[in-house]
Amino acid sequence: MKKLRERILEEGRAINENVLKVDSFLNHKVDPKLMYEIGTYFREYFSGRGITKIFTIESSGIAPAVMTAMQMDIPMLILKKQKPNTMSEDVYQTTVHSFTKGADYELTLLKKYICEEDKILIIDDFLANGEASLGAVRLVEGAGAKVSGIGIVIEKSFQKGRKSLEEKGYDVYSLARIKKLEKNLIKFII
Ligand code: G4P
Repeated sequence: MKKLRERILEEGRAINENVLKVDSFLNHKVDPKLMYEIGTYFREYFSGRGITKIFTIESSGIAPAVMTAMQMDIPMLILKKQKPNTMSEDVYQTTVHSFTKGADYELTLLKKYICEEDKILIIDDFLANGEASLGAVRLVEGAGAKVSGIGIVIEKSFQKGRKSLEEKGYDVYSLARIKKLEKNLIKFII
């Protein structure tokens, strides 16, 4: 997505070889029009697969996921990183390790919001090692439903996320794929 790549080049900042800051339109301040256009790309790519729900992982996946859900006219669910005290009902949970944050969290979904007939599109803001997406996949498949695709806004292609997901047979569609980061340098694959 050309517009996204341009925005990353204009406003993104590689703080080292591993981390890209995009606080001004995705992770902190959010540009709704850009998120809407991102939704259009995901809708066009994933339409025709009978997708019934979009899942995302809190919190920065929410904006692109909800814009996609709106355009596909289906519900969007936010997978929680811990079980809120107010969630007293039955849940599916799986432990996810974040290498970026160096910590584990319990990805959580209320059982009543998924059924075996569901075809789920997973959308997230960043793909690094793929642990969050793999956690979402475990929840979906643990409920007997199907993962119909994975949509990523920014993929760090030099990390192993895409490979791990593709090896398991999932279709990963990323709108910006970063080949290399260096302090003050951002290089794309596409
Ligand atoms: P993984 O799922 O692909 O294995 O990624 P990892 O656990 O390593 O990433 C943990 C968090 O860091 C995620 O956000 C992810 O989106 C974010 N992240 C990873 N690499 C980058 C990067 O280069 N730049 C930025 N800005 N974020 C990155 P999170 O903990 O879910 O936080 P949130 O922002 O969604 O609330």
